[in-house]
Amino acid sequence: MSVLVAYASAKGSTGEIAERIAEKLRESCPSTTVKCSPINAVDVTSLPSYSAVVVGSAIHMGSWLSPARHFIHNNATVLKEKPVWAFSVGMPPKEEDRRKEEQMMEEKIRKTLPNLRRHELFEGRFNEKDLPWFGRVIISCCIPKEKTKFGDSRDWVEINAWAEGIGKDISALSGGGT
Ligand SMILES: Cc1cc2nc3c(=O)[nH]c(=O)nc-3n(C[C@H](O)[C@H](O)[C@H](O)COP(=O)(O)O)c2cc1C
Repeated sequence: MSVLVAYASAKGSTGEIAERIAEKLRESCPSTTVKCSPINAVDVTSLPSYSAVVVGSAIHMGSWLSPARHFIHNNATVLKEKPVWAFSVGMPPKEEDRRKEEQMMEEKIRKTLPNLRRHELFEGRFNEKDLPWFGRVIISCCIPKEKTKFGDSRDWVEINAWAEGIGKDISALSGGGT
């Protein structure tokens, strides 16, 4: 079996999460080949050869980055025939915001991939300097402090556990059990 982990990242934190997911899948499914790649570098003609796909993106302004949106849209026919898991990476300020945003992102992805196995929103890394100057101005003058969160909030224990869950599913699909 072979699995593709494809991601869209603007500042690197989603890429690091994707690499961790791929590493955990290699550990959980030693007989499976796991390729981890930025979406822009994926050779889409090779997509039919993968047994399963994990696709993830950073969230900007409530949406996946355009390479990730285009990837699932343009390759929906192939992806619908495979087990697909998705993850989003954002910086919701509170847990309740996170659950709402997670649900919203999942609804958007399921419009293209109704058979999606599972979706999870992970907290990422957000530095104020990553915003364009007008974004920094808007945040400093118009958005209350409790509505923004900066720093590195990635929860590697949670990310590992999610990836291990996928690993179990993939082992079961390949007939290997757990
Ligand atoms: C311009 C911009 C817009 C963002 N919009 C959102 C958003 O709508 N929702 C959210 O949860 N996080 C948002 N974030 C936070 C990023 O999703 C978060 O920092 C993520 O970890 C970035 O991933 P990356 O390092 O792979 O680019 C935004 C960040 C930037 C720079």
